[in-house]
Amino acid sequence: MTAPSWVDPVDVHAVAEGAEALFGKVFGGQADGVWAAPGRVNLIGEHVDYAGGLVLPFALPYVTTVAVRARRDGRLHCASTHTGEPWQGDLSEVAPGHRIGWAAYVAGVVWALRYSGALSAETGFDVAVHSCVPVGSGLSSSAALECAVALAVADLLGLPTDANGRSALITACVRAENEIAGAATGGMDQTVAMLAHPGHALLLDCRSKATRFVPIDFESANGRLIVIDTNAPHRLVDGQYGNRRAALEKACAELGVNTLRDIDDEDSALRTLTSPESVKRARHVLSEISRVREVVELLERGRIADIGSLLTSSHLSLRDDYEVSSVELDSAVDAALEAGAWGARMTGGGFGGSALALVPVDRVEDVVDNILRCAARASLPTPQFLSAEPSHPAHRV
Ligand code: GLA
Repeated sequence: MTAPSWVDPVDVHAVAEGAEALFGKVFGGQADGVWAAPGRVNLIGEHVDYAGGLVLPFALPYVTTVAVRARRDGRLHCASTHTGEPWQGDLSEVAPGHRIGWAAYVAGVVWALRYSGALSAETGFDVAVHSCVPVGSGLSSSAALECAVALAVADLLGLPTDANGRSALITACVRAENEIAGAATGGMDQTVAMLAHPGHALLLDCRSKATRFVPIDFESANGRLIVIDTNAPHRLVDGQYGNRRAALEKACAELGVNTLRDIDDEDSALRTLTSPESVKRARHVLSEISRVREVVELLERGRIADIGSLLTSSHLSLRDDYEVSSVELDSAVDAALEAGAWGARMTGGGFGGSALALVPVDRVEDVVDNILRCAARASLPTPQFLSAEPSHPAHRV
């Protein structure tokens, strides 16, 4: 696809060169290495990771790269081609509640690893960032940055990066996001950025942390998954995301369970909840977890097109019960379905950001045109489209 509304993935080596060039310009000399981590799209299982649910994300072929050099003075110096504001400071001053802007995603990871005892007080870094993951599009540019930094630090200090090592790095990235960046997110994004497998989605059980790879081959069914960045910026650091988490905690307290996964009789649980808001929020989570199970079963049986209706049901549940959609996301989903998509839904945190559509190959152009037409008719921002090939996890370039 070459229409201007498609954002083509950039080869990882070209992105890495951007980070190295910035490194030379800002810090002088050469980095010790360059590391990359991907953005992600979640096929289904939305707003259930922090509820102990099941999620099914995969890595996108869009990466954030970091060129990194170790220092021995406990300081962190960061620069990015995306923002004009370099940041530098002493790592001993990084702490929860001390807001440091975009550099929190870098400093937070180093802080969390230091806090866990993996880093000495003298360890510091110069970090130059260059990315082709759209920022503010709900495709986890922040997790990509955290994971690239975490892997860089681990490699440079000789920390383990096998499966167990990566799981410790995921924990550090989630702490960075929750405690230093101040976004109470659930961990799905960091997990898939660290553990993804090309050609597969990652089924993650957020209660047990068990993972399983599910093969994804849309082409075998003459289908294509497209990601629609509505260009309406989404924000996770405002109150809405936290409100949803709080509503679920309230529901769990009323039901006397740790997570909604621990409920045996869902109908009776929903009848027990006293507030209409709790009922809606819990109903989304419970129904979404069942949809993930159904989608996995269909994918494993090669029934690709049949997952479409489950994707659309997920959207309706997020729109009506969880109330995290937006006019831009609804427009993209409705337009995709109207033009012949098998299914479509918002993906990620919501309130703007991106949607996805599973489309028969011969309808892709119609779907794209209709999404653009409907957005223009409603005076919404012009969406852009991304390719959704299940891609590689964080790695050294
Ligand atoms: C954001 C968060 C994730 C997850 C999704 C919603 O992407 O970072 O942890 O909660 O929203 O599924």
